[in-house]
Amino acid sequence: MLDSPEIFNRLRQDHIAARRVMAALEAEVDRVAQFHPPNLAPIGRAVSFFTGHMAEMHHQIEDMIFAALSRETSAKAAELRKIAEEHDAAGALVTHLSEVAAELATDAARARTAFCGIARDLIAFTHHHLRREESQFLIYADEHLTPGARHDITIAARALERTLAEKAGAEKAGAEKAGADESRWVRSPR
Ligand SMILES: [Fe+2]
Ligand SMILES: [Fe+2]
Repeated sequence: MLDSPEIFNRLRQDHIAARRVMAALEAEVDRVAQFHPPNLAPIGRAVSFFTGHMAEMHHQIEDMIFAALSRETSAKAAELRKIAEEHDAAGALVTHLSEVAAELATDAARARTAFCGIARDLIAFTHHHLRREESQFLIYADEHLTPGARHDITIAARALERTLAEKAGAEKAGAEKAGADESRWVRSPR
């Protein structure tokens, strides 16, 4: 369960997790660039990490903090907006990576160059974004977010966390049911 100071720790931990995911993705890009057959697991893990936890939880919390800080300190609003806009840019890069990764799975020779290019763009852009947040935004937010805003964001983050946990639970149950249906179908006489 999140408490108020823990929100900032969680954001920093997410950055560490993002760097690990990107290191595995970059190692795979290096292999693919050297004409090895693609290993889709680290690519899939990177896409689901960025489209799942980062997009649905991490960026949402940061966007709430951006909005609260912008309301409280209009002098920094333009700068904060620029960092917030990077979430949209990162989302577009991840969507593009996911499309190119699907092509890579079916036709590696055709998709190799595009995949390596887009994956390297995403990695470079995300490193830039994380550094910018760690050197500016998280420090500024720690110092300037009012107790009221911290409280509201903590409550909203907990609700978001619950919603996502329920969604993940429903998806897992759906997948298990599909698996059970499948095994029933396999066993049933034809
Ligand atoms: Fe961010
Ligand atoms: Fe972040």
